[in-house]
Amino acid sequence: MSDYRQTIRFTINGENRAVKVPPMKRLLDVLREDLQLTGTKEGCGEGECGSCSVRMNGELVNSCLVPVLQADGASIQTVEGLSANGVLHPLQKAFLECGGAQCGICTPGMLMAAAQLLSITPHPSIAEIREGLAGNLCRCTGFIRIFESVVAAAAATPNPSSGQAPHAR
Ligand code: FES
Ligand code: FES
Repeated sequence: MSDYRQTIRFTINGENRAVKVPPMKRLLDVLREDLQLTGTKEGCGEGECGSCSVRMNGELVNSCLVPVLQADGASIQTVEGLSANGVLHPLQKAFLECGGAQCGICTPGMLMAAAQLLSITPHPSIAEIREGLAGNLCRCTGFIRIFESVVAAAAATPNPSSGQAPHAR
C-alpha cells in the first residue's frame, strides 16, 4: 500500500487545522486518530447507521464515507464543536434531561443530525424530526426519547410564530 501523504487543510469547529495523511483515509479516522476528536463514533463503517455524522459545509455527512481529500478546504463541525465555552448546546442539555442518550454510541451522530435539522427548521414537527433523524439508528432508546429531546431543545428557543412546541407522542 502506498505511503503517500498529502497535506489537507480545513476548519474544524472554527479552528484552522492541517494534517498530513493518506488522501483516501476516512475523515472519521482523521478526526479520531490525527485530531483526537474521538466524540465522533464508528458504528457500521459503511454509511448505514449515522453514528459518524458530522456537518461539512452546512451538510450532514457520514464521515466514514468521506475520503479526507474531499474535506480539503471544508468547514467541519463535530460534536466537540456543539458546546461553547463549557456551556452545553440546548440539544446536549435536552438529551441529558430527557434520556435521549443511553449507551451513547449513536448520540454524537444524533446530536449532529438534530443540530443540522434545527439549523434549517428551528421548530420542526414530529414528522420533520423523524425525517431529519431518519439516517441515524439507535438500538437503545426506541427513538421516542430522542424525539422528545429534540422537541425540548427546539422549545428552548422561542418560536415567534406560535410559541407552542409539538408533542413527541
Ligand atoms: S459508522 Fe458511518 S454510517 Fe455507520
Ligand atoms: S443510545 Fe445506544 S444506540 Fe442510541
